Amino acid sequence: MSGAQRTKKALRGLGGTALLCGVLSLLACGGGGVSVNETSNSGAWRWVLPANFPTPRVPESNPLSPAKVELGRYLFYDRRLSGNGLQACASCHHQDKAFTDGLTRSIGSTGEMHPRNAQSLANAVYHPTLTWVNPSLLSLEAQLQVPLFGDNPVEMGVNEGNVDSVLDRIRSDTRYPAMFVQAFGDEVESISWGRITQAIASFQRTLISGNSRFDQALSGKTVLSAAEQRGQTLFFGEKAECFHCHSGHNFNDQVVHASTRVLDLPFHNTGLYNIGGTGNFPEGNQGLFEFTAKPEDRGRFRAPSLRNVEVTAPYMHDGSIGTLEEVLDFYAAGGRLITTGPNAGDGRVHPNKSDLISLINLNVQERADLVAFLKTLTDHEFLTNPALSDPFSNPPATRP
Ligand code: HEC
Ligand code: HEC
Repeated sequence: MSGAQRTKKALRGLGGTALLCGVLSLLACGGGGVSVNETSNSGAWRWVLPANFPTPRVPESNPLSPAKVELGRYLFYDRRLSGNGLQACASCHHQDKAFTDGLTRSIGSTGEMHPRNAQSLANAVYHPTLTWVNPSLLSLEAQLQVPLFGDNPVEMGVNEGNVDSVLDRIRSDTRYPAMFVQAFGDEVESISWGRITQAIASFQRTLISGNSRFDQALSGKTVLSAAEQRGQTLFFGEKAECFHCHSGHNFNDQVVHASTRVLDLPFHNTGLYNIGGTGNFPEGNQGLFEFTAKPEDRGRFRAPSLRNVEVTAPYMHDGSIGTLEEVLDFYAAGGRLITTGPNAGDGRVHPNKSDLISLINLNVQERADLVAFLKTLTDHEFLTNPALSDPFSNPPATRP
């Protein structure tokens, strides 16, 4: 069986969204396979982290190096990596939108609509589980098999019919052979899917965002306005309760880093839907229930990081809330009442709704203050950093 056939079979067998460890011989998943554990020729990676950020965890099987990260940046932006040559990772993950795409739900390279909204990749290195809800995607190496090879929906559309020609396109580029040698050492099969995977994952590990006005205020470099400070007090207080699920250095509640000993993997129902009072969410988006089949997991999703949330609209797993103001209306009401249409129902009374989501009667001023605070989490340096940008339209950049 070819790698792609195995990939496809594994994807189908596990509903198209399963953990693909072993499929592409990724040691990062803990499975056996070819050794891809070369040390780089160009030295170890040196993290330059914001003061309050813990050191990220990097799999031993895929150590970071500047050469590998730079190669990953090229591959992340390279449209030739999709079956029909039309879509790169970056097609759905735009730097200026904190690596989201501005769409309600993403569109794949062949036009299929994804059931969910593209996620920000800022600080993804700190996420123990990946995507809105899949509890079995545990490494960036495993996650990126889904957009590359998945067929439910088709994203980049690499399949058994084109897997070799896609690789040939990469091999025939004048730049890549030398870049792979630099990143992985001089080996017989220098350009392979395993190495492409490792390089893209490495680039993503370096997408660190921690230089927002909020961070600058923390370190005394700036002072937040009165409205922003009132918003901050509300955010971290027991009236709005936001911090319970959006806390810590990354404003979320699933975090892993180099010295993590015990992993906590919460998923929450925020009362977004309750179709016809049955507890149902729209087809294909039942949350954790899709993986566990436990009724109490219906409608439960991973809390997203709120860093850069100003530029990641529309919001929620299905992009069904358009603006931050509307997100606050939703929280103030303690969930969402949908009065007409196929999704009609009262999410406010969903039996699985978190106890932390309840009617909080935020007044107009309080909503505005909270929005002002959320906007302090925008990291303009991250959104424009040339070292993270498209190398095909920009000259190679020197990283810090
Ligand atoms: C067709 C648009 C599209 C393409 C192309 C795409 N993604 Fe995504 N990405 C998404 C969507 C939508 C999600 C949310 C998926 C879900 O919840 O099932 C996502 C989620 C992710 C996540 C999870 C982030 C988190 O916080 O857990 C990572 C990492 C990621 N993508 C990386 C990549 C990489 C690397 C590539 C290229 C190999 C890629 N994506 C290609 C749309 C896309
Ligand atoms: C019980 C945990 C919990 C609490 C409390 C909570 N959230 Fe959330 N938040 C979530 C989850 C889970 C999602 C994703 C829900 C979904 O897509 O179905 C989310 C989504 C969001 C989003 C959308 C982000 C995006 O990228 O789409 C924003 C903004 C947000 N929350 C802000 C807040 C604010 C402000 C508060 C306080 C008023 C708050 N949250 C309280 C769990 C929580």
